[in-house]
Amino acid sequence: MTYDLRLTTYETGFIGVFDSGYGGLTVLKEIVKQLPEYSYLYLGDNARAPYGPRSFDTVHQYTLQAVEWFFKQGCSLVILACNTASAKALRTIQQKDLPLLAPSNRVLGVIRPTTEVIGEYTKTNKVGVVGTVGTVSSGSYPIEIAKFYPNIKVYQEACPMWVPLIETNEYNNLGADYFVQHHLNNLLQQDADIDTLLLACTHYPLLIDKLRKFTPSHINIVSQGEIVAKSLSDYLQRHPEMDERCLKTGTIDFFTTDSTIDFDTKAAIFWGADVQSKHADI
Ligand code: DGL
Repeated sequence: MTYDLRLTTYETGFIGVFDSGYGGLTVLKEIVKQLPEYSYLYLGDNARAPYGPRSFDTVHQYTLQAVEWFFKQGCSLVILACNTASAKALRTIQQKDLPLLAPSNRVLGVIRPTTEVIGEYTKTNKVGVVGTVGTVSSGSYPIEIAKFYPNIKVYQEACPMWVPLIETNEYNNLGADYFVQHHLNNLLQQDADIDTLLLACTHYPLLIDKLRKFTPSHINIVSQGEIVAKSLSDYLQRHPEMDERCLKTGTIDFFTTDSTIDFDTKAAIFWGADVQSKHADI
């Protein structure tokens, strides 16, 4: 791996929020609700999404390129609002890449904030996790949850069709019912006492209506947006030195590695308002 060290030498103070595509918008939306005064750059790597089925090396390479892009824009804090990138690339970026690239910058993910609080949602200590093939096969959730809550038993199910259904805007159609029910049944039949369903993919909140429809009503469905936003807010309070480096103009700029026309159309569904993106070459 070669590093592009031509990073910008000045800080712009934007907080970077990254996802392979549109999913991170569900996280950014909650972050902006809780921290409206900050200035954000969102990047969707739509040209190379989905990340879910890709190898560790590929997800690391793509995510690192995105992080370098954020640093070149002068961001000193980047949130990987993508479970697949958090599961397969974050640790290497934090431990190996960051010290070489920009030691005083920070890259944070979505897995730790979620696993830190998941115990507050379950009474039976049985949690079902749905995510991409990459997130599930990485074992990150069972490993991280065990650190905070050794008594919780974690059951996982990879749902490879859910992101494509969402990215192609087919998720409200009848065809999606089959795939939603299929994976929910696979998960829930592993243990009748599962009382918490963790959506460990930032795309999945778009499926919430169908998930509610096909999930027994006593099961809590947990999305990450609010959790990650609260954790970022706590992080900025605990790290005033980073908070001081963050610009506070209350702006959001959207970037995509693919067509801006496609991005704007689909992003509006996730965002709930018009989006005008710019193209980014990373
Ligand atoms: N939104 C990403 C996540 O949270 C997954 C999308 C993808 O497969 O690219 O895992």
